[in-house]
Amino acid sequence: MAIEFEKDFEERIVTSTLTGEDEGEVSLRPRRLEEYIGQSKAKQNLAVFIEAARMRGESLDHVLLYGPPGLGKTTLVGIIAAEMGVSIRITSGPAIEKSGDLAALLTNLAPGDVLFIDEIHRLNRSVEEVLYPAMEDYALDIIIGKGPSARSIRLDLPRFTLIGATTRAGQLSSPLRDRFGVQLRLEMYSAEELLQITQRSAGILGIPIEPEGAMEIAMRSRGTPRVCNRILKRVRDFAQVRSQGVITREVADMALSALEIDSLGLDATDRRMLESIILNFGGGPVGLETLAATIGEESVTLEDVYEPYLMQIGFLNRTPRGRCATKRAYDHLKIPFLGQTELM
Ligand code: ADE
Repeated sequence: MAIEFEKDFEERIVTSTLTGEDEGEVSLRPRRLEEYIGQSKAKQNLAVFIEAARMRGESLDHVLLYGPPGLGKTTLVGIIAAEMGVSIRITSGPAIEKSGDLAALLTNLAPGDVLFIDEIHRLNRSVEEVLYPAMEDYALDIIIGKGPSARSIRLDLPRFTLIGATTRAGQLSSPLRDRFGVQLRLEMYSAEELLQITQRSAGILGIPIEPEGAMEIAMRSRGTPRVCNRILKRVRDFAQVRSQGVITREVADMALSALEIDSLGLDATDRRMLESIILNFGGGPVGLETLAATIGEESVTLEDVYEPYLMQIGFLNRTPRGRCATKRAYDHLKIPFLGQTELM
């Protein structure tokens, strides 16, 4: 029988999708490439492409950014526009409902501008088809009239840069994916990089922090700057009330424990997910939809937000037959591992 779990978090502090609380984060966002910590491969390549485009006086080729949420895709878009010295228009796949919406956006761009489409995998097909000639030939094909007398006219567009961001590169159609000249995969951050980000953010916010306190936050931020910045602000509250405002290792540890974020950055929902796989489904395999229903989360949330980190630290495997918890997950949760018992 499935064990019912209570949802004990109103809002998950380690979520890496944007929440209202992140609005203030804008000021923590680096504005230039040289301030941006981590993603060294993506950064080095981008620096070359940007410099080359600038030297030629051309717009930057279209860029696709992909990877789990919270790794700085939007931040990087702002940086690219700043480095190219151009304006940026921001929209998202689900916000563009009709091809006319996209046509309106495209015809309002100035030469060189960046058009940023977040969640580009959620564009509908008819909109996507308008994008093909726009990306390839900087042209908009408009059909006038209906039936046999219908004809198509072509409008020229300014040379622009499309930047698409997605958590799911695999869901992009190949004609769309192939039209991005630059494709950058963002990786999870190392503890060392998150340490630098924590210290940088604490500096901007004027929070006194000891290196050990910053390291504690870095190690428990599940490889994600957005999580690290959010935790920093909550730990600051504890430091203010419980110590003299300074974030030490002890304060950070106390605050993170109070927030139910464990030594590896797992929160109550991560643990609930793993415990459900182990206790209800014999360690797996269990289908994503079944698992989501059991713990009361959306399957896309589990897939995009929770699973990448659990897989990264080797606690979860995705198999063709479903999700499996690994021995490491059992050990972390202090549940005896008796070998995988497959439930049919
Ligand atoms: N804040 C959020 N992400 C960052 C990054 N990659 N570098 C510096 N500061 C950040």
